[in-house]
Amino acid sequence: SIQACLFDLDGVIVDTARFHYIAWRQVANDLGFDLSHSQNELLKGISRMESLDIILSIGGVELSEDEKVRRATEKNTHYLELCQQMTPDDTLPGVRVFLDDLKAKSIKIGLGSASKNARVILERIDMLKYFETIVDGNRITKGKPDPQVFLMGADDLHIAPEHCVVFEDAVAGIQSAKGAGMFAVGIGHKSILTEADIVVAGFDEFRVEDLLVAFGE
Ligand code: BG6
Ligand code: MG
Repeated sequence: SIQACLFDLDGVIVDTARFHYIAWRQVANDLGFDLSHSQNELLKGISRMESLDIILSIGGVELSEDEKVRRATEKNTHYLELCQQMTPDDTLPGVRVFLDDLKAKSIKIGLGSASKNARVILERIDMLKYFETIVDGNRITKGKPDPQVFLMGADDLHIAPEHCVVFEDAVAGIQSAKGAGMFAVGIGHKSILTEADIVVAGFDEFRVEDLLVAFGE
């Protein structure tokens, strides 16, 4: 049975993925190359410094450690500026109803995000109150696709992995969930999230009842 649901943040709860893309693309442009949509897919779910390393390898650019920290800090400042336009209305469609339904069914709710900005973002969209645990980029030592982030969340909630469902929009996040032994719901496209147990476009046409059926309850 499903006893806990663990949610990724960026691209699942809120559409910050477009802001990450804009800010990283600026970093690439400043270094003299571009970052395509498909290259950006590789960055989803990946920590800030690892994302920068991937971008630098795409551009064939090498930077000193100090310069890397400077670029990553610049990216984050730009990203947080973009995030300031966000309001509770930027919560992705159907998410609130879905979480309310989970609460009504006494299914626990946790966050599993690579972002160090997770709490700030949740506060801005007024969603902090839903989460019984938050595992974010400040707590984990191994990023997605390592299963640590979701195993920590399950442990915080005292629920065994086989009773947990993960919601993820990133390839690395689905791999993390499957590595943790959890049921993985992909948010996005089947062609990209090939390892997910099921893939849905979003929460506006997917109800908790549909999840229970998919899980086999
Ligand atoms: C993930 C995003 O949730 O968090 C990545 O999908 C991002 O794009 C990562 O790089 C780290 O986020 P932050 O906010 O700590 O830079
Ligand atoms: Mg994500």
